[in-house]
Order: sequence, then structure tokens, then C-alpha cells
Amino acid sequence: MLTHLDMGPKVLNRVAPGVESAPYELFELTPKGATIGAQIDGIDMRAALPAEVLAEVHRALLEWKVLFFRNQPITPEQHVAFARQWGELEIHPALGQGAIPELVRFEKGEGSPKDVKAVGYENLWHSDVSWREVPSLGSILHCIDGPVVGGDTLWADMYAVYDQLSADFVERIEGRTATHSFARAFLHQLPPDQRAAAAAKYPDEHHPVIRTHPETGRKLVYVNPVFTVGIDGLDDSESDRILSRLYALTTAPEFQVRWNWSPDDVAFWDNRSTQHYACSDYHPARRVMERATIIGTRPY
Ligand code: SIN
Repeated sequence: MLTHLDMGPKVLNRVAPGVESAPYELFELTPKGATIGAQIDGIDMRAALPAEVLAEVHRALLEWKVLFFRNQPITPEQHVAFARQWGELEIHPALGQGAIPELVRFEKGEGSPKDVKAVGYENLWHSDVSWREVPSLGSILHCIDGPVVGGDTLWADMYAVYDQLSADFVERIEGRTATHSFARAFLHQLPPDQRAAAAAKYPDEHHPVIRTHPETGRKLVYVNPVFTVGIDGLDDSESDRILSRLYALTTAPEFQVRWNWSPDDVAFWDNRSTQHYACSDYHPARRVMERATIIGTRPY
């Protein structure tokens, strides 16, 4: 009889069928979900990483969609320098800034609202800055401080959501665009005297409901309940029906990974192929995170 004692050392870096094209050779990679989420060990983000290592991290990002790194005591400058290796960083016009403008700081504690659906919590499924004309490639989130229990973040695999759709359903939405709105999500959070200028600077944008990932060529669902206001060219009730169905699939645990944070954990996710949700179950504990967001390309 085989017992756990007979099983020998844990086998790492085996190829996950359907996800990985080859084993990872330059660091240890441990899957954390069926199709989404993997932990990487053996990388120090404070050091300059060789091009081959960066290329393998990039392949892991495309294949696993969210990467988790433990024990990364990075400074804000090191955080931004690591992120810049993937492209230009954006400066968010509405969210609170960290030590440098390219970092968004999410800081919650005793003084934050108790109401779990209060404005200012990130507990709604979204892809970062999908309201921009050119949205994000990915985000890199550093945990500065976190509650002993709770405060997890969840990510959904939006390829897997697309793969669930029937051919008939895809036919109804393929080729359509949806409207994504900065104004709906953020205008009321800005001081009244800044609202008109912000609305003019960040008008509604239109992106495909089904998007093709520019690097993997795979199709995925690119609408989210925070920034998408409706599917263009459909009446409100049909648009709402379709969006509700897509959002219900996004929240299915089968397509998700969930991370319980410790200080100095870092998550790096692909904003094209995933959505995320920060679980707001820790009031009045303190939770402080800083995020760098890499600018991507126009969706098609
Ligand atoms: C975010 O929505 O980017 C923040 C996620 C988190 O704080 O876990």
C-alpha cells in the first residue's frame, strides 16, 4: 500500500498539461489553481534579473495568469523598477498614491467603513483601468501590512470563462463592443471642482466584449461589473441579461485562485486574461497594499 511516506520528495516543475508549454528551469514554480495562479520561488525582486529569468517569468505570467512571490521586502523604488521591465507604468488619476506617483496605495484600518460594500473597497470583480483607451497589461501588488485572518485577493481566469460559453451565446456577442466608464466608477470620489475636467479627460471607451490576448492569441471575456456600463447596440435589458451571465461565470470558484497575504508577498497578474476581487472581511484590522500598473495595448 502506498502511504504519504513512500511518495518521496515533492515533484516540482512538472509540466501542467494544457497550461505549460515546457517545464520552468530557472526558478521553482508551484501551481496554486487548476488553470490560474502559481507561486514562484527562487527570485529576489530587489536584484537585477538576467534576461532569461525575466523571459521565463513572462512565460509563467502568460501561462498561469497570476504569479505569487513570497518574502520580497522591496522598496517603492524597487517595486517600480521591477514593474518597468514590462513597460511604462500608469499614474492613476483617482486612487490614492503611494510614495511615488506610479504606485497606488490601498490603505484600510480602523477608520475605514465597516460596510463591506462601501465605496473605497476593491471588493468588486474588475480588470484594472479597463476604462482607459489603452488599458493595462498587468499589475504588481505588494503587501505592506495585512490582517492575521482575511483580506485575501481572488483572481478569475477569463479564458476559462470564455471556454464555458456555448457557440450560440458566443455568436450573440462576438464582434460587439462594450462601453467602459471612468466616470461611473470614480467621478463621485473626486472633489466636485475636479469632476468636469476629469470627465472630459477620461471619456467612455469601447472595447470588444470578447477580446483576443495580444500575446497568446487566445480569446477571453473582457467585461467587468465595475467599469463596463453596457454592451453597445443592445437594449438595456438584453445587455444586462448577457452581462449578468458573464459575471456569474466570472464568480465561479472553478475558474479562480485565492491568495492569503503575508507582509512582503507580491502578486503579478495579467489584466488582459484575469479579473480580481479584494475580499473585505477584515475590518477593523489594518491592510496596506501598493500597486504598480503596467500600460498595455489597445484591445482587439
Ligand atoms: C486592486 O483592486 O488592484 C487591489 C487588490 C487588493 O488590494 O487585493
